[in-house]
Amino acid sequence: MGNFSAIGQNSDQGQSPAKPVEAAQVSTKGLQWINDKNSGNCAACHAMPGVAGVQSTFAPPLHEAGQKWTPAELTQWVTDARQMNPNTLMPSFGSAKEWQKANSSIPILTTEQIKSVVDTLTTWRAPSSISNRPPTKPINPSNKPLQHLSGTAFLSPELLELQNDLSSNPIGLWTEQGRALWNKRTSGSSCAQCHGNVAKMRGAALGFPRWSASKQKLVNLEDQILTCAERTGAALKGLEDPDVLSLSALLHSVSQGMEINMTTDATTQSLWQNQLRAGEKLFNTRIGRMNLACSHCHDQKIGLQMRAEVISPGHPTGFPIFKMSWQAMGSVDRRLRACFSGVQAELPEPGSAVLRQLELYMKMRANGMLVEGPLLRR
Ligand code: HEC
Ligand code: HEC
Ligand code: HEC
Repeated sequence: MGNFSAIGQNSDQGQSPAKPVEAAQVSTKGLQWINDKNSGNCAACHAMPGVAGVQSTFAPPLHEAGQKWTPAELTQWVTDARQMNPNTLMPSFGSAKEWQKANSSIPILTTEQIKSVVDTLTTWRAPSSISNRPPTKPINPSNKPLQHLSGTAFLSPELLELQNDLSSNPIGLWTEQGRALWNKRTSGSSCAQCHGNVAKMRGAALGFPRWSASKQKLVNLEDQILTCAERTGAALKGLEDPDVLSLSALLHSVSQGMEINMTTDATTQSLWQNQLRAGEKLFNTRIGRMNLACSHCHDQKIGLQMRAEVISPGHPTGFPIFKMSWQAMGSVDRRLRACFSGVQAELPEPGSAVLRQLELYMKMRANGMLVEGPLLRR
């Protein structure tokens, strides 16, 4: 309810907003919060004047906001959009009311910042040519409905070309490294000594996460690799250890083209179902200071633009991913944590139950799709 922020001392008092020169100053100030990724970040969802590069299409363009709404209405939109539309996907920038798992309970913008944002919005009065209607076709042609497409259909032509170019694509190095590790003898046994040629592991990457009776929790492929690394006598250092990711890349690559078909056996059925239901619930629950659920983006906004990102259905078919912005391979665990961070939610610990439950639900949601990983991402 209250505004707890310590910022907000830099008020406009003493200035007369009626004078055009000062109005221009005020509007520049608002633009700062509108663009800043760590503050208003309005440009992540809205197209608007004065933004260079790709325009976002998640939400209606704001070019005409000053024409369409009064300053009081604009203040309401920005402060708490739920007052304008109870089901809104617009974060409430001036109220922390009913936030869950937010990484901070402080409203995103101070009253003062909201005022300068609204001053800027009121100056926007020209029609926009940008539409926020969902596209009917993915970037890369396919006949399937958008919600059944993997991330590959949403890659830019440049990235798709790099992905298909085996000589310059960085992924080959990772699977090669995985192959070397698979056969490598340490003081103990190699993976190959217990499991044989890696080609025999076709299908082994499927079915994870699965219920582990000994650990009494869901384990995913990277967890299994960590457990097995201990058996080789050369323990690895956590889920994002490059050796774990190389082995994961290798094991996924030998299962490419196989259909995801998540099931469990009768003895673990009810425990597994509980985990699945927990994952489904999480997927549909609003979290973080953005107050958005996974489903809001990955079911409702597929194909729309958030700055340079195109939202895909989020199917976990391409993991592990080599993400250009990370300049590294990363696990599904890391990607999920990035989305928690994106909505400014508390970050779950790597390997936590929440992440395994989400992974299980997302794999179930991708049943019938083909394993494609490891793949490139933006
Ligand atoms: C996470 C995405 C998101 C962010 C970030 C966001 N908005 Fe929105 N906004 C929306 C959506 C979606 C709507 C459409 C209305 C609805 O869903 O209720 C909307 C609606 C609006 C409207 C009404 C537009 C109209 O034409 O009816 C205004 C004004 C607005 N937003 C301003 C802002 C400002 C200013 C910021 C930054 C401080 C911002 N928004 C940040 C998603 C967002
Ligand atoms: C000492 C023998 C041994 C070694 C060495 C070993 N594993 Fe395993 N692995 C097992 C056993 C036993 C299982 C069955 C599940 C369990 O008990 O964890 C298994 C299961 C697996 C599975 C799941 C297979 C499936 O079809 O469900 C994968 C994947 C795997 N290991 C990968 C590896 C990798 C990668 C290495 C090398 C880092 C490795 N293992 C080294 C014994 C071994
Ligand atoms: C505000 C919108 C938004 C929300 C909410 C969101 N994500 Fe994402 N997510 C993205 C964007 C943008 C990307 C990058 C483009 C893509 O792959 O879809 C992404 C990527 C992903 C990917 C990678 C897909 C791939 O093929 O590389 C997964 C998996 C994912 N998100 C899961 C989740 C989960 C689980 C949640 C909820 C905890 C969530 N996301 C919440 C926007 C969102």
